[in-house]
This record gives sequence, structure tokens and C-alpha cells, in this order.
Amino acid sequence: MAKNGHNGFALGIDIGGSGIKGAPVDLEKGTFVGKRMRVDTPQPSTPEAVIDIVAQVVEHFKDEVGDAPIGVTVPAVVTHGTVRSAANIDHAWIDFDGAKAMAKRLGRGVTLVNDADAAGYGELHYGAAKKEDGLVILTTLGTGIGSAILYRRLLVPNSELGHLEIDGKDAESEAASSVKDTLGLSYEDYATRLQRYYEVVEALFSPDLFIVGGGISKDAKQFLPLLKLRSPIIPAVLQNKAGIIGAARLAAEAADFEF
Ligand code: BGC
Repeated sequence: MAKNGHNGFALGIDIGGSGIKGAPVDLEKGTFVGKRMRVDTPQPSTPEAVIDIVAQVVEHFKDEVGDAPIGVTVPAVVTHGTVRSAANIDHAWIDFDGAKAMAKRLGRGVTLVNDADAAGYGELHYGAAKKEDGLVILTTLGTGIGSAILYRRLLVPNSELGHLEIDGKDAESEAASSVKDTLGLSYEDYATRLQRYYEVVEALFSPDLFIVGGGISKDAKQFLPLLKLRSPIIPAVLQNKAGIIGAARLAAEAADFEF
């Protein structure tokens, strides 16, 4: 087993619909080492175009991370390195072996995971779920709704709870924070939608803890107190860093780092 090689760093890269962000992560503290890099997501966001940017991010941080593990997130289902869906990225990703293509382009392996799973794992180790050993469900409210299920500190990947069908509709099309923006909803009106969403998820899973991530979680005080649920529901603490930090941690674990 490697004992935190590379000064205990790993590189995390978060591929989103509008931006691709990366930073070296201190695995002991779960913090960024230096300044994050952000590049606009190319349009169309084909695998080739996106992987070119990933290569730029890796090159940019080469002095900090050396040959440290690299974790990469995509806003899609990922099974064994292959992307299986594409909600906010080009459809050419569907059934594309992203991990293999990245390894070929970079000359080294990467760990490719769903964005919300990475965020959940980041919160589990360094954030809002640090002390929770039971069933945790993290949801990210953004363009869509992402989800991570964590049980006894293990990640159950690709849960896709944003696509539950609720009242005949795809849940994220009613309750993602992009819907609040598009419709110009007040926090009260948006909370009514979140109430319906979280009560269904709660009825199905009875989590010990809900964590709410995504950009809007910084305004959590304006809507979380309006929700009436049995399970506690709290904001994520790593904010938009969670995906990068969680991806770095998952990559380090895949490389057998000791913690
Ligand atoms: C996708 C998920 C993703 C989430 C957040 C959803 O539309 O299906 O895979 O985690 O958006 O980006």
C-alpha cells in the first residue's frame, strides 16, 4: 500500500455543463492546494473536446501533483469507467469508455465517477457527513438534481434520484434550482416543490441525514427551515468544491492510498 505518496495530494477534476474545474487536493485535510483552474466547457461538449481540456488541467498542475492519482467527475451515470447517460453533456458520451479514453490521452489512469457521487464522498470524509455512520443521502440542486447514497461510510454509486418520477414528472424538471431561476420562484414557492421531492425520497429510503449541495445550498437558511421532514436536512459544507475533493479522494482510494 502506498502511504500518501505525492505529499498526500491527488488531483480532482469536475466536468460540468458550463465549466470544467480542477485543483490538487490535500487528502488529509480535504482542502485545495493552491488556486483552482476553471475552463469553459467546450460546446458541443463531445468526449474529444472535453478530454482535451482535462489534459490541459492535468498539464497545468503537473508540478504540484506529479504522478498523483487523478479523479474526474461527469454529470452522468458511470459504470466501470463507461459513461451511461448524458443529461447536461453531449450525447456522444453515452456508452463511451471515458476512463479508457482519458488514460490513453494522458498516458495514465484516472478514476471516472458521477459528479454527485463524488460530492457525496467529499462531504462524507471532509464535510457535513464526517460523523454520520448511518444512511446519508446527498442531493445536489443545480441544473439538474444529482444524488449520492452513502451507507455505513460506503458509497452506493449511480443512484440518480433526480430522475425519480413524482406526480408523473421527472423530479429534476420540477425541483432543480434551475427551475427556480427559470420560473423566477420565491424561496417559499420553491420550498413547496422541494417538500414534495424530499418527502418522496424520505418515504422510500428513511435516511438518517439529508445533505443539500449545489450552488443554492449557500442560501439554505432561506428554504431548508421551511421543509417538514422526519430526517434532519442540512446544507453541504464543501459547497462547489465537494466534487473535486470527493473525486480526488476516490482516485486515491482506488490507488490504494492509506488514510
Ligand atoms: C444526471 C446525474 C447528475 C445530475 C447532477 C442529472 O441530470 O442524470 O447523473 O449527477 O444531473 O449533475
